[in-house]
Amino acid sequence: MTDYNTLIVERREAVTLVTLNRPQALNALNAELLAELLDVMRAYDADPEQRCAVITGSPKAFAAGADIKEMQEMDFAAMYGGNHFAGWDDFTRTRKPIIAAVAGYALGGGCELAMMCDFILAADTAKFGQPEIKLGVTPGMGGSQRLAHAVGKAKAMEMCLTGRMMDAEEAERAGLVARIIPAADLVEDALKTAATIAGMAPIAVRANKEMVNAAFDMGLAQGVQFERRLFHGLFGSADQKEGMAAFVEKRAPNWTGK
Ligand code: CAA
Repeated sequence: MTDYNTLIVERREAVTLVTLNRPQALNALNAELLAELLDVMRAYDADPEQRCAVITGSPKAFAAGADIKEMQEMDFAAMYGGNHFAGWDDFTRTRKPIIAAVAGYALGGGCELAMMCDFILAADTAKFGQPEIKLGVTPGMGGSQRLAHAVGKAKAMEMCLTGRMMDAEEAERAGLVARIIPAADLVEDALKTAATIAGMAPIAVRANKEMVNAAFDMGLAQGVQFERRLFHGLFGSADQKEGMAAFVEKRAPNWTGK
C-alpha cells in the first residue's frame, strides 16, 4: 500500500480507515494532505472490495482547519487564480460512503471536511466551529452552506459571526452529528458502523447516498421524483431480487453487487 506523509491508511476488511496524521499542526489541512486524501478516496472508490470509509484524526484534533501558515502570505491572485480549495469538490464526488469520526477540535476546514463526509460520529470530546472570522476571513470549504443546512440559519450565523465552538451535545441536538460516542470507543464504534454499511448491497448503498445528498440540491418534488426513479432502477439489480428473496426465505442475503 502507498505510504503517505500526512495520512495513515489501513484496510480493515471492507472498510478503509484513514487517520489524518499531522500532529504537529493539529491535522491542519494543507495542499499535501488534500492531494494525498484525494488519492486515497479515488483508490477507495475504484476498489470493489472496499465498501465504506472512516476518516478520523487524533484524540486532540480531527483537524484544526485549513493550514493558516500555508495561506498566510497568499494574495487574491493566488487564491482566485489558483481556485484555492476547489480540489475539495473532488472529495465530495466520492460515490461510496464516508463516515467522519470526530474527536477533539473540528474547526474551520476541519469542521467543513467532517460535513463533507456522509455523516459525523462525534466523541464526547468533539468541538465544532467556524472560527475564520477571528482570522479576518470566512469559511472557504463550504462551511457557511453546509453548516446552515445542518443546523439552520440561527446557529450557523451565530457560529460564523462569533467563531464560538459547539460541543458534542449541542452538535447532536442541533443535528450536526448522528451520534455521540465515548472518546475511547470512537474509532471502534465508527469501524463497526462502517462494517454494517459494508455488509449492505453496494449498489443500494450508493443509491441511498446519492438520493439523501440530492435533498440538499433539489426542491422537494424534484427530489422525490429522483428518489423514485433510483428506486425503480434498483429493480434491475440482482441484489434487489436476492434481498427480497432472502427476506421471504428467512435467510441472510448474499450480495453480488450486481
Ligand atoms: N493551521 C496551521 N497550523 C495550526 C492550525 C492551523 N489551522 N491550528 C493549529 N496549528 C498549529 C499551531 O500553530 C501550533 O504550531 P506551533 O507548535 O508550531 O506553534 C500547533 O498546531 C499546536 O497548536 P496550538 O499551540 O495553538 O494548540 P492549542 O491546544 O493551544 O490550541 C486550537 C488549539 C484552539 C485548535 C488552536 O490551535 C487554534 O485556534 N487553531 C486555529 C483554528 C482556526 O482558526 N481554524 C480555521 C483555519 S482557516 C480555515 O480553515 C479556512 C477554511 O474555511 C477552509
